[in-house]
Amino acid sequence: MATTSLNVNGKAASVTVDDPDTPLLYVLRNELGLHGPRFGCGLGQCGACTVHVDGTAVRSCVTPLSAVSGRVVTLEGLGTTSNPHPLQSAFIEEQAVQCGYCINGMIMQSADLLARNPKPSEQDIKTELANNLCRCGTHLRILRAVMRAAASS
Ligand code: FES
Ligand code: FES
Repeated sequence: MATTSLNVNGKAASVTVDDPDTPLLYVLRNELGLHGPRFGCGLGQCGACTVHVDGTAVRSCVTPLSAVSGRVVTLEGLGTTSNPHPLQSAFIEEQAVQCGYCINGMIMQSADLLARNPKPSEQDIKTELANNLCRCGTHLRILRAVMRAAASS
């Protein structure tokens, strides 16, 4: 058993797991009840599980808890219903969601991009999201949503 102290969405959290190399995704979902990050492939290949650690997008399914010492932010911590992140508003305004499974990861990856590059080109966004998979094929709406968010901030 190992107990680890985390800061998740601005709050202190203490989690106890059998194996310190338990993926961060499992800790967030199963121990802390945060279901924004999704299990897609479990292999670091789809992006559905993306969260921020110290402001950088990481794939939580392949990030062991033992490697996490900084601030973790999930989709739940990016904005609130009454004060959504510009990306969350833009994804709603562009109706970018079909099934929605990939969208958490798309938003978290895009938030990392906009923090580094507030006015990205279309190509910048395509490059950034190239490894975030969407089986519904709503890529053009996602692209428009990220462009809208960039224009609004
Ligand atoms: S579930 Fe983590 S990259 Fe697919
Ligand atoms: S909206 Fe369904 S996987 Fe992207």
